[in-house]
Amino acid sequence: SGPDTFSPTGRPTGVPQDKVAQGGAYLTTAQGLRLPDTDHSLKAGPRGPVLLQDHHLREKVMHFDHERIPERVVHARGAGAHGVFRGYGAASNVTKAAFLAKDVETPVFVRFSTVIGSRGSADTVRDTRGFATKFYTSEGVFDLVGNNCPIFFIQDAIKFPDVIHAAKWHPDREIPQAQTAHDTFWDFVGLHTEGTFHTIWNMSDRGIPRSYRMMEGFGVHTFRLVNAEGATTLVKFHWKPKLGVHSLVWEEAQLLNGVDPDFHRRDLFDAIEAGAYPEWELGIQVFPDTPEQMFEGIDLLDSTKIVPEELAPVQPIGLLTLNRNTSNFFAETEQVAFHVGHLVPGIDVTDDPLLAGRLFSYLDTQITRLAGPNFPQIPINRPHAPVNDMLRDGFHQTAVHRGVAPYRPNSLDGGCPFTAGAAEGGYVEVPTQVSGRKVREAPASYADHFSQARLFWLSLTPVEREHTIAAYTFELAKCYEQAIKERYLRVLANIDPVLCEQVAEGLGLPAPAGSESLADPRPSPALSQVGRTWPAD
Ligand code: HEM
Repeated sequence: SGPDTFSPTGRPTGVPQDKVAQGGAYLTTAQGLRLPDTDHSLKAGPRGPVLLQDHHLREKVMHFDHERIPERVVHARGAGAHGVFRGYGAASNVTKAAFLAKDVETPVFVRFSTVIGSRGSADTVRDTRGFATKFYTSEGVFDLVGNNCPIFFIQDAIKFPDVIHAAKWHPDREIPQAQTAHDTFWDFVGLHTEGTFHTIWNMSDRGIPRSYRMMEGFGVHTFRLVNAEGATTLVKFHWKPKLGVHSLVWEEAQLLNGVDPDFHRRDLFDAIEAGAYPEWELGIQVFPDTPEQMFEGIDLLDSTKIVPEELAPVQPIGLLTLNRNTSNFFAETEQVAFHVGHLVPGIDVTDDPLLAGRLFSYLDTQITRLAGPNFPQIPINRPHAPVNDMLRDGFHQTAVHRGVAPYRPNSLDGGCPFTAGAAEGGYVEVPTQVSGRKVREAPASYADHFSQARLFWLSLTPVEREHTIAAYTFELAKCYEQAIKERYLRVLANIDPVLCEQVAEGLGLPAPAGSESLADPRPSPALSQVGRTWPAD
């Protein structure tokens, strides 16, 4: 065996070192003690009782007992890959982010996921897909934690526990593993009509991607970019797959759920292993940063709305290539910790209330999932930029910090560390003006729940409409409660009468008359009827 192979018995194995569990010549305990035998417990005679003094037995079984960590509270099932991102420089007029400059190459790790199913659930279910990217930039980690759907079910993060409680399995029987085929999901989206657009997106062919390699990705929220001169711009991030957007039809997805529940995971790994590296262009829609934060009458802080690309084209700013598979799923895909608050100079958040809650939630959940506050030290989460923080101790601390004064200024360790202003690459939040009454209210601009769902429905081809009708019919038919189906038919009537009638027919229920539509129908102006509300530049 050569230097890259491991052969505990002295026989050549030909197995590369990174593919075997241990790299040394002997099996040892966790303390480095060489083991003569790991196959038999220590006993009082071959048929006698096992002795409590068998430290190796206890260590081996104890460690196994603790191998699992909690799965993610959402997006539990995923697949990841490494790659590289190359900036085109096209965004340099709107952001000073170093990784977006021309021809800068940045290592990345991407994790794709379903939202609702458990870690072991099937890939080809109808659900939203996560598309989370970690850029290991020279200025620190930037995470773009997006989905393959440009809008979200809710407008305010305080509703996130509610929507996830509704979409996850029923508490009594823990079914279904898919997102949508049950009473609580349809109960929620019937009572929270701001979810109408996200729901129709999932009921369309978009709800079952053919491959992770053939999905778009969206940052969903509006972000604020800052350029070298300090000028700000509002943007929405988009990933456009070079292979185009493709879906599975329902029958294909059903067969695959049975014959290969790992279909998407396998497809991604096999493609990369074969050298067919998937690529996406990162693009931005650009909007002027006006005090109203509106564009063509669309509230840019409302994550249930898109800005149609006809109104604001997506401008390409870089290329992502996934070119290396994981070598240890747990160490990479399972332990990776994304966070919308991982930002770099040149990229800032906006006041979208959905984003605000996320800024709290990711770090908070990872403290449980990854057992303590030191998970940024796990290899997959380590920045590739130098780290010089004053965070100390805690569970699973692996750094051995030096110095006696982890605070600043101090007069013992030379007063360091220094801080950096914007000119030295420090991250300075955009000093936006904040004012207003302290209230628990949504703005009036959040009230239109249907016009964009209608726009989407009208954009579908006849065969896509057929699939969408079939999907609503199938999923709603799984509800036990008649009232939930009837209420959702009234939501559909607010999108389109034909859609409503056809789903009603499929369910064997009368379609609600126009006047019977939702008791509290929200205003739904057509996009063309709403005007530009910010002062011209
Ligand atoms: C996980 C996207 C809204 C809480 C994720 C992941 C993605 C994602 C892609 C999986 C990350 C991974 O692969 O490890 C989104 C998008 C949202 C959204 C695009 C809306 C635009 C929210 C909100 C909350 C939230 C509003 C909470 C208030 C979480 C939590 C996790 C998660 C707790 C698990 C994180 C972990 O365990 O590491 N989200 N999410 N998400 N999301 Fe969101």
